[in-house]
Amino acid sequence: MVGTLTRKLSKRFDDEIRFFKGWMDGPKAVGSIVPTSAVTSRRMASVIDTTSGLPVLELGPGTGVVTKAILERGVSPNKLVCVEYSDDFVSHVRRLFPGVNVIQGDAFDLDSTLGPLADQTFDCVVSGIPLLNFPMPERIALIEDLLGRIPAGRPVVQITYGPRSPVAPGRGNYVVEKLDFVVRNIPPAHLWLYRRPI
Ligand SMILES: C[S@@+](CC[C@H](N)C(=O)[O-])C[C@H]1O[C@@H](n2cnc3c(N)ncnc32)[C@H](O)[C@@H]1O
Repeated sequence: MVGTLTRKLSKRFDDEIRFFKGWMDGPKAVGSIVPTSAVTSRRMASVIDTTSGLPVLELGPGTGVVTKAILERGVSPNKLVCVEYSDDFVSHVRRLFPGVNVIQGDAFDLDSTLGPLADQTFDCVVSGIPLLNFPMPERIALIEDLLGRIPAGRPVVQITYGPRSPVAPGRGNYVVEKLDFVVRNIPPAHLWLYRRPI
C-alpha cells in the first residue's frame, strides 16, 4: 500500500520534473510549468464519443496525462493518434502507451505531420496546444483545419488559462462554447469547445 503510493508520487514527481524541463527548453511551446490535473484531463476526455468507431486526435500530449484519461475513457490505443512537437515528450508517451500512434511534428501543419492519415476523419480533437502563445490568425486557422477533420457537430476541446476563448468567436465557420472551468488544476483551467454549426 505504502509502496504503491510512493511509486505513484514518485512517478508524478518525475512527470513534473520532465514537464518543467520541457518548459525550460521551450517555454513558448510548452506553455505551462506543470502538467494538466487528472480532473481536468478526465473532463477533456469526457467529450469523446466512444461509440463513433472513429479514432481520436490528441494534440500536444506532453507527459501523457490527458492521453491516459483518453485511454481510460475507453478508447483503444490503436484508435488514438497523438501529435507532439518535442522529441523528449514523443519518446516518453511512446514508452508509456505502446500501441498509441504518436507522431512527431507540428500541429499547425497537419497535412504533412499526419502523412498517410491526412484524410482520416476523427471523432473529435483533444488539444493541449498552448494557443495563447500563437497569434490569433494562426489559432483560427488551426481550429478551421481541425474542424475539417471531424464530423460536423463534433468538438475540438481546448484547454487554456485565460477567462476568454483563445479563439475569437465570429471569425470563421465555427461556434464557441465554454465546457468548464476547473479549479483543481494549476493554474485553474478553462475548457472550450469549437464545432462547425449544424
Ligand atoms: C501545455 S503543454 C500540455 C501537455 C499535456 N497535454 C498536459 O495537459 O499536461 C503543451 C504541449 O504541446 C506541445 N506543442 C506545442 N506546440 C506544438 C505544436 N506546434 N505541435 C505539436 N505539439 C506542440 C508541447 O511540446 C507540449 O507538450
